[in-house]
Amino acid sequence: MSLAGKSFYMTDIVTIKEVAARDGLQAQSVEISLEQRQELIEALSKAKVPELEIGSFVSSRAVPQMAGTDALARTLPRSGPKFSALVPNMKGYELARREGIDQMAIVISATEQMNQNNIRKSLVDTFAMAGEILSRARREGVEIHAYLAVAFECPYEGKVAQSVVLEQASKLMRDEPSRLVIADTIGAANPSAVKSMMAELVSQYGTHRLGCHFHDTRAMGLANVFAALDAGVRQFDSSAGGLGGCPFAPGAKGNVATEDVVMLCETAGLSTGIDMEALLQSVACLTQMMGAQQGGRAHYWLTNNWQKISK
Ligand code: COA
Ligand code: ZN
Repeated sequence: MSLAGKSFYMTDIVTIKEVAARDGLQAQSVEISLEQRQELIEALSKAKVPELEIGSFVSSRAVPQMAGTDALARTLPRSGPKFSALVPNMKGYELARREGIDQMAIVISATEQMNQNNIRKSLVDTFAMAGEILSRARREGVEIHAYLAVAFECPYEGKVAQSVVLEQASKLMRDEPSRLVIADTIGAANPSAVKSMMAELVSQYGTHRLGCHFHDTRAMGLANVFAALDAGVRQFDSSAGGLGGCPFAPGAKGNVATEDVVMLCETAGLSTGIDMEALLQSVACLTQMMGAQQGGRAHYWLTNNWQKISK
């Protein structure tokens, strides 16, 4: 990739976890078949995303869009991205394990109300459950990405103090998740809050066990990614085409678009290993599925120019 200038960063590889097939699809009202989910996963695998969340093992009453993730898991190719799934509890962990999934996301919300709405458990009980899942996962060699959701602002309780998140992060880190992901579930963060939070976490835990998950509700998704990069973070969730939302967080818009994050990283001298042309094909696949044009903020420009300038 000749786009990049000389990298001024210490680590020049960024790992992207592609979440369109979970965070993206779970928020859609259009009905999506298992075959279509499979097609999306295949398209994203061709784009060489290093990590790919295929769906979640949750109650199909709570999130009907994710029904059938077990059957989907059985169709995954043996090689390609690292496949992962979201699990809300030990039952989900066991269901995912049964299908051979060995990288999972667990979600703890920073506020009581969001946590109750999302998984119908108190925060105290959720931290206890997270501890049980994390210690079992360590014994069984399963990687857990522990998410702190609504880490900047909650749709029910308002702004979340950085000190609250740092305290929760320290509790979770004691149980050694393979990654702690700070999630701006409703897209309310801003670059200075992100820089402040992530710089503090990086100083405490180093960069290799930290990740960020941003939504673009207020058009600050990419600026927030840059702020986190600047703080040293090298692992990001994003969603092809910027597909996303959260059924339990009113007003949440799509995730930051993978194609935009790839462009940002590659032009800043950081390598993602993702094939942009194939990624744009997955966005086309999503457009077809949704029956409406999908794409991040630079989609039009990328579609018309990426091939020319990346030669
Ligand atoms: N996968 C599938 N089914 C599950 C499950 C899981 N991980 N966990 C529980 N269930 C089933 C139970 O077996 C039970 O089924 P039954 O009524 O047929 O016996 C039913 O769900 C209710 O179980 P209960 O433990 O009382 O759960 P609940 O109603 O309190 O719901 C969750 C809790 C966590 C299962 C549900 O809120 C959920 O799936 N939330 C997911 C939220 C999400 O994905 N958010 C977006 C990502 S952040
Ligand atoms: Zn999200």
